[in-house]
Amino acid sequence: MLVSVRVKALVTGCAGFIGSHLTESLLEHGAEVLGVDCFNDNYGRSQKLRNLELAQDWDGFEFVPIDLARGALEDLVEDCDQIFHLAAEPGVRPSWGSRFELYVRNNVLATQHLLEAVKGSSGKRFVYASSSSVYGDAEQLPTAESAVPAPFSPYGLTKLSGEHLCRVYHANYGLDAVSLRYFTVFGPRQRPDMAFQILCAAVLADQTFEIYGDGEQTRDFTYVSDTVAATMAAGSAHGVSGRTFNIGGGSRISLNEAVAALGEIAGREPRVVRRPVQRGDVRDTGADIEAARTALHYRPSVSPIDGIASQWAWFVEHAGRQPVQ
Ligand SMILES: NC(=O)c1ccc[n+]([C@@H]2O[C@H](COP(=O)([O-])OP(=O)(O)OC[C@H]3O[C@@H](n4cnc5c(N)ncnc54)[C@H](O)[C@@H]3O)[C@@H](O)[C@H]2O)c1
Repeated sequence: MLVSVRVKALVTGCAGFIGSHLTESLLEHGAEVLGVDCFNDNYGRSQKLRNLELAQDWDGFEFVPIDLARGALEDLVEDCDQIFHLAAEPGVRPSWGSRFELYVRNNVLATQHLLEAVKGSSGKRFVYASSSSVYGDAEQLPTAESAVPAPFSPYGLTKLSGEHLCRVYHANYGLDAVSLRYFTVFGPRQRPDMAFQILCAAVLADQTFEIYGDGEQTRDFTYVSDTVAATMAAGSAHGVSGRTFNIGGGSRISLNEAVAALGEIAGREPRVVRRPVQRGDVRDTGADIEAARTALHYRPSVSPIDGIASQWAWFVEHAGRQPVQ
């Protein structure tokens, strides 16, 4: 007789953009989810509470509002089989200056606390949400995981520190850790500081949209459902302990192309203004996803244009509920 064992997952950053989608998908696939978030001030608490609305309808969901950078976390991880660590201080541009302290706190210290709590236990998979920002201005595109990381921003540096912490706990304690380098994730509920969300707001309100540089910079945009599928696969895949994977969308487009596509989808010409390139922004990103294809059976399925159309449709539907930036 087949006995199905219910997976118990911990999702940190469950009220965030990607964490809330991951939480819902885990619940839909039959897992119990313990969600953690501290409602960090990188954007509005009200938006994060709204991100949690669908998850709250599930009996299998429990929310714990704690700050991972404080206190012991052993009780939190005790009953969990899969730990998805997405909580972080995200974003390249705010990572300069005085806010860097928060990047160290929420990206390095919080990760170390969680790893300390997990290190003595066996049978727990730890999935760390890293970033393409660890590569900096990569010398080769698409970039393979074997490229030497050289972050170009304080944010990238803290995400790489988190990866190294996972590696160190894997090497010394045998911790079953996997790191995923997400490439620019987009889709419904995207963070309000991210380009597509700002673009949707500008087009809807017929306001200007600032492009930093010539707009020919390219990104390997990854639709959020693809990111979630890869993350869930990493939670249970065999033979991947200690490894790092690129999770990209499978193709690159320029910001100018994305803006033009949204203009066509929305039926309105975006009003673009040019601004100087911002410190920390890299020119291009591109993921070599061969390793994830093989080991995680990862197959990104949403094209940038289809994804932009979905994000626009969602944005228009929820426009009255968007926070003011
Ligand atoms: N969005 C992207 O394009 C992208 C790209 C690469 C990597 N990532 C990584 O993916 C993860 C999720 O990113 P996101 O865009 O969903 O960001 P997000 O800000 O929407 O979500 C992160 C959540 O973590 C929470 N948090 C922060 N510090 C915490 C702490 N100390 N204790 C508890 N909760 C805390 C925040 O309140 C927030 O809700 C992050 O680790 C980020 O670095 C995101």
